[in-house]
Amino acid sequence: MEEGPSPGGGHPPVSGAPSPEPDRDAPALEVSGIFKSFSRRGLSIPVLEQVSLTVKRQEFVSIIGPSGCGKSTLFHIIGGLVKPDAGAVRMNGAPVTGQRGSVSYMPQQPALFPWRSIEDNVILARELKGAARSEAREEARRWLAKAGLGGFEKAYPHMLSGGMQQRAAFLRALLAPQELMLLDEPFSALDALTRSEMQRWLLELWEENRRSVLFITHSIEEALLLSSRIYVFSGRPGTLLHTVEVPFPRPRREEMTEHPEFLRLKRQLSGWMREEQAKGGNPG
Ligand SMILES: Nc1ncnc2c1ncn2[C@@H]1O[C@H](COP(=O)(O)OP(=O)(O)O)[C@@H](O)[C@H]1O
Ligand SMILES: [Mg+2]
Repeated sequence: MEEGPSPGGGHPPVSGAPSPEPDRDAPALEVSGIFKSFSRRGLSIPVLEQVSLTVKRQEFVSIIGPSGCGKSTLFHIIGGLVKPDAGAVRMNGAPVTGQRGSVSYMPQQPALFPWRSIEDNVILARELKGAARSEAREEARRWLAKAGLGGFEKAYPHMLSGGMQQRAAFLRALLAPQELMLLDEPFSALDALTRSEMQRWLLELWEENRRSVLFITHSIEEALLLSSRIYVFSGRPGTLLHTVEVPFPRPRREEMTEHPEFLRLKRQLSGWMREEQAKGGNPG
């Protein structure tokens, strides 16, 4: 019997260097000792210094830090779009520094393609990886329904509200075949109410579908609600200031935001962020 798209008779993956079997015990992502500078008008501006962090398989991990401290740059490095000056990126134990195509990435300004229907936007990453369209569509429809976008499969992005577009962009990242998702401030453009709806939605979806996630946010509460661990970055050049393990069990409930330990962590993180902001010159 045919088993759907099979991994092609044991051939190695087409792209990238010949990769060994992924090590299932290794973390989904290991970033170690990353340094990066950009040059501006002949001056070298350090943006990231000695950044190391880990996302274990099926873990939700967040990064918070002041604007301009290099968070998006770190994502570009992890995604292989930018080469670090020093340091290494490993996924499932294999070195992937400078290699593209290993992550599912939702950039800070997620752009749906205006000429593709919502459904066709959502299946894009699968399509690029050679999945059969009809099968990808079927799965996309199920997720669109769960995301409250049922009935909008054939609509075009401009016909949807900002929050709905964001959910579609998020589903596109979720349905991408790569195991590790990088989400760069996915809710920052939304109004407060839509944002908190989206947080709950993401939490539910993630608890059902446990991907490995690295998430950038400015919202301390959002980071605490969603993450198992939070990395706190300094102002530019971004270095790792603190690592916070978030002790609340899953599934997480919104009531946890009233728990004394939640409030304590929130105060602590806010204090650190205020200190960094106060030190910071002009970001950007
Ligand atoms: N390609 C680039 N060339 C030059 N400078 C850059 C480039 N990308 C980012 N920067 C600079 O690096 C710093 C960090 O940017 P970014 O990673 O976007 O910060 P964050 O996402 O934390 O706000 C900023 O000062 C930004 O202007
Ligand atoms: Mg950014």
